[in-house]
Amino acid sequence: MNVLVTGGAGYIGSCVSQYLIDKGNNLIVIDNLSTGLKKNIPKKCKFYKCNIQDTKKINRIFEKNKIDIVMHFAAYVDNAESILKSKKYFKNNYYNGRIFFSNCINNGINKIIYSSTAAVYGNKKKKINEKDILKPLTPYSSSKVLLEEYLEKNKKNLSCIVLRYFNVVGADSRLRCGFNINKGSNLFLNLCRSVSKNKRFNINGKTYDSKDGTTIRDFIHVSDLSEVHYKLSKLIIKKKVFLKLNCGYGFGYSVLEVLQEFIRVSKKKINYQFVKKRKGDIVVSISNSSKLKKIIKWQPKYHSLGYLVKSSLNWYKKVTNQ
Ligand SMILES: NC(=O)c1ccc[n+]([C@@H]2O[C@H](COP(=O)([O-])OP(=O)(O)OC[C@H]3O[C@@H](n4cnc5c(N)ncnc54)[C@H](O)[C@@H]3O)[C@@H](O)[C@H]2O)c1
Repeated sequence: MNVLVTGGAGYIGSCVSQYLIDKGNNLIVIDNLSTGLKKNIPKKCKFYKCNIQDTKKINRIFEKNKIDIVMHFAAYVDNAESILKSKKYFKNNYYNGRIFFSNCINNGINKIIYSSTAAVYGNKKKKINEKDILKPLTPYSSSKVLLEEYLEKNKKNLSCIVLRYFNVVGADSRLRCGFNINKGSNLFLNLCRSVSKNKRFNINGKTYDSKDGTTIRDFIHVSDLSEVHYKLSKLIIKKKVFLKLNCGYGFGYSVLEVLQEFIRVSKKKINYQFVKKRKGDIVVSISNSSKLKKIIKWQPKYHSLGYLVKSSLNWYKKVTNQ
């Protein structure tokens, strides 16, 4: 299969590209390297340094390459930054995404897998089902919803799967690709930094309505998520569909539980303190992923918390040469 990946120099795009190459597919990567790194792109990919919204260049790429499926990862992903710079997020994640998809449709490329996020749901008390009402709380999550809606409006012309990822963590088992250790500030990355630099770890909020007062997330390993993309790419080639699917394990861990696991796995002490809550933080976010599991007969392989932590620490150590 010939798969075009946008954002293939980023964390998830590079790992999914590597996984698909391992399965014998041809990969074409488009990335403007705004947050991604060229060295992340698997060597066997054909790479174009290009903005997704550059219609002229994109049309040339479409003319030159046979493309069976598009996987659209390119976006800005810093939820906290989006609150301060909302226009930047709406422009890149929604308007630029729209230009890109409309160029795909105009060129007869109509099989699309789109990376959306569980943040589209906002706060929910129970396990989240795809039919639940969306309530995005930040410009980042709103921009992702708008692009979902654009795809839905155009579904007549498309075979399309919207994937709502929960919290993606970990790295490739052979440590060929993983998250950017210099960008962002998610829980796993911050804990890797605390372990490696003996840096105090801040927990944002201790009075949330959860089992231990800290927020709870459903984490999914990037290799399991890559397998999901692989299996769905085979489905979308055979069948015209329009699906929205949650990608998570269906259970969650609190910030304190993850912290304790980092201490156990690294065998290092982590100093931590509670600080104030962050604006827009969701309390509990756990998927109901039964639809995904049923459709592709998916059984996650990397779901133990110990493995999620070990995989992240190993990648962090490799990148920082420790
Ligand atoms: N990381 C997560 O836990 C998570 C969770 C839910 C959803 N997602 C979604 O998954 C996708 C990938 O996330 P990630 O964590 O790999 O992010 P990332 O920042 O590592 O990768 C995004 C890539 O897109 C590129 N890019 C951005 N704007 C572009 C443009 N206009 N033209 C060309 N390239 C552009 C960047 O250079 C970068 O390489 C995003 O769409 C994000 O919303 C991620």
